[in-house]
Amino acid sequence: MTDTPPDDAIAYAICSMSDIPSRRAMGFELALDGGDGPRPWPIIVVRWGRQVFGYVNRCPHHGVNLDWERNQFFNQDGTRLMCGKHGSLFDLATGQCVDGPCKGSGLTPVPLTVLDDDICVTGVTLVADDEDDADAASGSGEEE
Ligand code: FES
Repeated sequence: MTDTPPDDAIAYAICSMSDIPSRRAMGFELALDGGDGPRPWPIIVVRWGRQVFGYVNRCPHHGVNLDWERNQFFNQDGTRLMCGKHGSLFDLATGQCVDGPCKGSGLTPVPLTVLDDDICVTGVTLVADDEDDADAASGSGEEE
């Protein structure tokens, strides 16, 4: 038996539900633990009422961030995610490109869950930020 849950059971809180108004999206610059060092992992979190949807912030057309202005992810009527470079439109709930040069492909989903009103990323291993490192250091004292 082990007390350490597998990586896919770890939930990393990235913000609270109230940080993102309903029918809005927000970008986060996270870092994956790739084994050989941190790997930048920009993600988009969409909130639609009590539902949340997460995607990697990378357009399948040219691999750029969707938001050419920070946190501007939606088309004009606020019904689709939109890439600011060539205007591809993506379904909010599936990430599939429904119009534009990358039609037929889609955004990479990010598994999210809501725990105690916190929006959390699951299924990956993230690199802890400095604050967490400081907490871990102050709580150390284990002996081998
Ligand atoms: S880079 Fe996104 S539509 Fe071309």
